[in-house]
Amino acid sequence: MAETLTITDNRTGKRYEIPIEDGAIRAMDLRRIKVAPEDFGMMTYDPAFMNTAACRSRITFIDGDKGVLLYRGYPIEQLAEHSDFVETAYLILFGELPSSQDLDRWSQDITLHTMLHENIKKFLEGFRYDAHPMGMFLSAVGALSTFYPDAKNIFDADSRRLQMIRLIAKVPGIAAYVYRHNIGRPFVLPDNELSYSGNFLNMLFKMTEPQYRPHPVLERALDVLFILHADHEQNCSTSAMRNIGSSHVDPYSALAGAAAALYGPLHGGANEAVLRMLTEIGSKDNIPAFITRVKAGEGRLMGFGHRVYKSYDPRAKIIKRMADLVFEVTGKSPLLEMALELERIALEDEYFVSRKLYPNVDFYSGLIYQAMGFPLDMFPVLFAIPRTAGWIAQWEEMLMDPEQRIARPRQLYIGSAPRDYVAKDTRR
Ligand code: ACO
Repeated sequence: MAETLTITDNRTGKRYEIPIEDGAIRAMDLRRIKVAPEDFGMMTYDPAFMNTAACRSRITFIDGDKGVLLYRGYPIEQLAEHSDFVETAYLILFGELPSSQDLDRWSQDITLHTMLHENIKKFLEGFRYDAHPMGMFLSAVGALSTFYPDAKNIFDADSRRLQMIRLIAKVPGIAAYVYRHNIGRPFVLPDNELSYSGNFLNMLFKMTEPQYRPHPVLERALDVLFILHADHEQNCSTSAMRNIGSSHVDPYSALAGAAAALYGPLHGGANEAVLRMLTEIGSKDNIPAFITRVKAGEGRLMGFGHRVYKSYDPRAKIIKRMADLVFEVTGKSPLLEMALELERIALEDEYFVSRKLYPNVDFYSGLIYQAMGFPLDMFPVLFAIPRTAGWIAQWEEMLMDPEQRIARPRQLYIGSAPRDYVAKDTRR
């Protein structure tokens, strides 16, 4: 027998059987609940979408209580151990791990699209020397739509695939150019001999040497960070990508909007906040007093807590191990010592234990980025590069879903009742 939810409306005494599918009821089924035939019907009120599924998705699964994160069914720990970002992007986009032939072609396709149009360089040169990297990044991604007008053909599978390749191939170049613009160094051309993350390091840090050789530990660490950030189901920026894409705009314009959502300090800015917090604390001796202030409600322990994870964020565990390897190369940061001590104290403290507050992905990622030489305001850009794979996979899934239409939430109107216009000189 099909599962249903029985609702009795006390206003009318009527009973409604609402079908349950995949543990959810359809909000539209509630519209049958009316007090009179002309009544609009019952709606749900859910500010910030705390309990509303807006899509069916096959891409990413999170179990926040158990600390599980799967891409297309594969545990994040196994992908971080055995895969690389280019292969993981393929998995996220196409649903399966590629055969070695498919992977070769995919890697080749991405490598052959890394060059940026010269006018994108000129476009970036127009920004002030101190422009925020994320503002430049999202503007340049949006500008790509004018270079590739064929991207409007969103229902042509070949065109979609080409834009996916272009986006994944070009976002590291844009990010690197943004960085070099800020520090006043000439742009560096991509090196097709290098891996995806190795080439990114090349475009960022190459000086006068004929060929840049990335440090293998740093190259791998960056690649693992890219794997960990590639998708995270229906978060703020991904929902923005789906919502904007639902108007059938091209993927570059939609992705610029998603990147704008990521720019916000509540989303992509937490790892920067962790570094600022550690710098402010200043030394290990000041940690107990800092924890006391947090417990008194005077500020938050940044990098702790998560809307979904109510146990250790699985990505944080992997990043913590990665931090050890990176710091062996770059030398230990005093901030890392403080972060470890802060974590030790917090994980033993009743306040954090009872609220299920554990380190999240941002607690250690900023420390790694800083050790690798990135300035703080590049952090959200480093997040946007790998998340591009997730955004476009979610965008395509939305486009191919026959149940999706243009996103258009309802509202509960609480403004004025109808009233007549008042002439200016008779207004109070
Ligand atoms: N430090 C101290 N107390 C905290 C923290 C924290 N980091 N996070 C939550 N709490 C407390 C709250 O004060 C609240 O306590 P109360 O019940 O006594 O009032 C309780 O824990 C629940 O907190 P909420 O704010 O309801 O949790 P929510 O799920 O809304 O917030 C969030 C999640 C925003 C991530 C929050 O934990 C936070 O602000 N953390 C610090 C910022 C951060 O690290 N953000 C990165 C998230 S990961 C990402 O976006 C990639």
